[in-house]
Amino acid sequence: GEARAADTSTLKFTELKRVRDREDHWPEGYGRQILARWGDALFTDSPAFDVAKLDGKAAERQFGYNNDFTYYMPLPFGLDSSDHGLMIVSHEYATPFLMFPGLKDEDYREKLTDDQIRAIMAAVGISVFEVRKAGNKWEIVLDGKLNRRIHMGTEMAISGPAAGDDRLKTKADPAGRTVFGTISNCNGGITPWGTMLSGEEGSMDVFAGDFKTLANQELVERQGWDEEDNDIYGVGRIEPRFRFEEEPNEWMRFDWVVEIDPLDPTAKPVKRTALGRFTHEGAQCAVAPDGHVVVFMGDDDDFEYLYRFVSRDPWNPNDRAANRDLLDNGTLSVAKFSSDGTMQWLPLVAGEGPLTAEAGFGNQADVVLNTRGAADLLGATPMDAPEGFIVHPRTGKLYVAMTENEDRLAAGEGEEREQVNPANPRGPNPHGHLLELMPPGSPDKPDYAAASFKWDVFVLCGNPAVPEEGAMFHPATSDNGWFTDPDNLSVDPAGRLWVATDGPPPAGIADALFVMDTEGEGRALPKLFYVAPVGSECCSPTFTPDGKTVFVSIQHPGELRFEDDEDATSIADAGTNWPDFKEGLPARPALVVLSRDDQQALGS
Ligand code: FEO
Ligand code: CA
Ligand code: CA
Ligand code: CA
Repeated sequence: GEARAADTSTLKFTELKRVRDREDHWPEGYGRQILARWGDALFTDSPAFDVAKLDGKAAERQFGYNNDFTYYMPLPFGLDSSDHGLMIVSHEYATPFLMFPGLKDEDYREKLTDDQIRAIMAAVGISVFEVRKAGNKWEIVLDGKLNRRIHMGTEMAISGPAAGDDRLKTKADPAGRTVFGTISNCNGGITPWGTMLSGEEGSMDVFAGDFKTLANQELVERQGWDEEDNDIYGVGRIEPRFRFEEEPNEWMRFDWVVEIDPLDPTAKPVKRTALGRFTHEGAQCAVAPDGHVVVFMGDDDDFEYLYRFVSRDPWNPNDRAANRDLLDNGTLSVAKFSSDGTMQWLPLVAGEGPLTAEAGFGNQADVVLNTRGAADLLGATPMDAPEGFIVHPRTGKLYVAMTENEDRLAAGEGEEREQVNPANPRGPNPHGHLLELMPPGSPDKPDYAAASFKWDVFVLCGNPAVPEEGAMFHPATSDNGWFTDPDNLSVDPAGRLWVATDGPPPAGIADALFVMDTEGEGRALPKLFYVAPVGSECCSPTFTPDGKTVFVSIQHPGELRFEDDEDATSIADAGTNWPDFKEGLPARPALVVLSRDDQQALGS
């Protein structure tokens, strides 16, 4: 082929080759450790993992399934220890036919035992546990005082504008202020005061029965519910609240952002309704120059929106408790992009503009309970399945990932909201893209609360060697370095942008981790750093402050039904039983750790 432009990246590691097999892969000169697998002990009294005997009691004491959001928080909080910290991890969902022997995709619902259903309910949610580096190895501190599991049975408060609303009241909770459990904990974020925000990304999987019996069908449809996704765990069989006919309001109590205090294992998690109700992916926090806290959120469905919440009050860095309910009051906004390189954050406030009582928005509870409907009326820009958001701490810029949208139409085709727009320029968009958002203000004082930002396309994903794909990366990007379907974004301590892709990726590579510079000569020149086992998703890279260690979550290894060309229906044909590779053991989602053998910083 033609000579490629010179490699101007600051990243000097030897890039991997594209690969798709039953193993995971990392660069030469690096080591990889499995830190925690589904079923591993998190407490001194955790029972040993035995999939044949697994029940709710055991699973509540073990690392959960399908870890997604992952964050290393140095301990003590506020200092920068790189060998002692808390791992804060979400467990998004479960895949029963890949967890338990003898089950198949076609018939597992009838065959699941009550103990298995209880195990599933305990294996999703959140894990918090202390980790320590001893020599070059990381280990879980089993007697860590902060170790905690949160799951589908954990008691939580509901706060903010929708708390106590009639539509959130149930037989078990006539006040509409207490709910058990969190569901579909996708990605998330960490507040300046060290709490975790977890995005509930669609609870439809969990509920049983006919959602067509629910009162507000317009809302049901706008939340994106469809029959196929109903009742994947059988929980409605053992908990009546998860059956629509028994409890028509229970579903309204999910699809929020939950705030969890990892530094207080007795603290009750709180669903913060002020941040809106939609298929929450993550919750990236930033602080405006005047101390107001800003949370950036993507609604991960085709043609959905980018949201932002700005707290009414500034946060208090000197009094952690003073920030406890900060996220209950503030302004939720939705993004509208213009072709002149600016974007507007449009406030979703009951009584303002088109959000009138006549339109169904008489108070702020009406707005947050139908966030998408309110955003529709404001003319927000429909995006290509927005997922990760990250603030770059050096430049102040924000990056946001649009995973892909096969249904995006060219200009002039179909409905207007489905057509290409300035921020989603390709129709169809099977490969996704990254946008760069620039708040006003200097790089050390960006105003994340400003009404208007500037924006640009950072990369258009796809294979640069196939011109029809319309990819746009740095011209020196190698045959291994380009990617598609961006999902989670992170910035390492050296300022590089890490991208975890979101399967199914193109043929020839399994889900992977790429890294690139965002400024200078190597801007937008990604390199392939890590490849996960077939059928899995790589999630949420997180770093020690010294930049020497990256932790990565590996979700659903072997779940080939998400790949284009295969169709796993049971453990037997899952394609891998990573990471144990032991007869009779299923593939296990796991948290991996990568670092250089010579213990120098990542990337060089
Ligand atoms: Fe859970 Fe949007 O990925
Ligand atoms: Ca995601
Ligand atoms: Ca993903
Ligand atoms: Ca995803």
